Amino acid sequence: MDNDFTQPTLNRRDLLIAGAASAAVTLPAGSAAQGAAEAAPAMASVTLEVNGRSETLQCDTRTTLLDVLREHLHLTGTKKGCDQGQCGACTVLVNGRRVVSCLTLAVMQPGAKVTTVEGLSTTRRLHPMQAAFVKHDGYQCGYCTPGQICSAVGVLDEIKRGVPSHASKDLAARPVVSAAELRERMSGNICRCGAYSNIVDAMAEVAGVRV
Ligand code: FES
Ligand code: FES
Repeated sequence: MDNDFTQPTLNRRDLLIAGAASAAVTLPAGSAAQGAAEAAPAMASVTLEVNGRSETLQCDTRTTLLDVLREHLHLTGTKKGCDQGQCGACTVLVNGRRVVSCLTLAVMQPGAKVTTVEGLSTTRRLHPMQAAFVKHDGYQCGYCTPGQICSAVGVLDEIKRGVPSHASKDLAARPVVSAAELRERMSGNICRCGAYSNIVDAMAEVAGVRV
């Protein structure tokens, strides 16, 4: 049947938009509703142990761990790539486990021990994983590298603790370090420069195996 273009048609979305527009026009300045819309964000105090240092800060409860690290503590080694859990550039270790810090609110981690790439090395010595990345050219532009290194450290720890992955043939057996295991476990860390095979070589060296 042909549409009747002489009659105005309103769908649900149009009605919502029209309703919101009229509400905005009719709100008197300084009204309670307007005040609520402009209410200050909810703030909270959070204490974290970052790279061995206790840090207590006030932040908007919606602040991610990534933004606390970069914007509040100025630890810019941890990178923001996608800011939605898809690239792995923001990976840090929280209580020894790897975590994408853009998907973690700081207030969800009270008292947590957070290790960023800055905390892996000392002023005198690189962490073995950092040294292996250098030796095997596990990077090109380097943007993904802090997240890759934190993730790689976490991966070897997971294998050591016997945590299986999608690539493990036997879920009940202790996983072994293999190219398939390393590639699968590192699959959440994207490298636009394509340094993947060198990263696997670096991880294998730290694990003391040939893959
Ligand atoms: Fe967190 Fe991409 S910035 S996963
Ligand atoms: Fe450039 Fe990985 S080294 S994105």
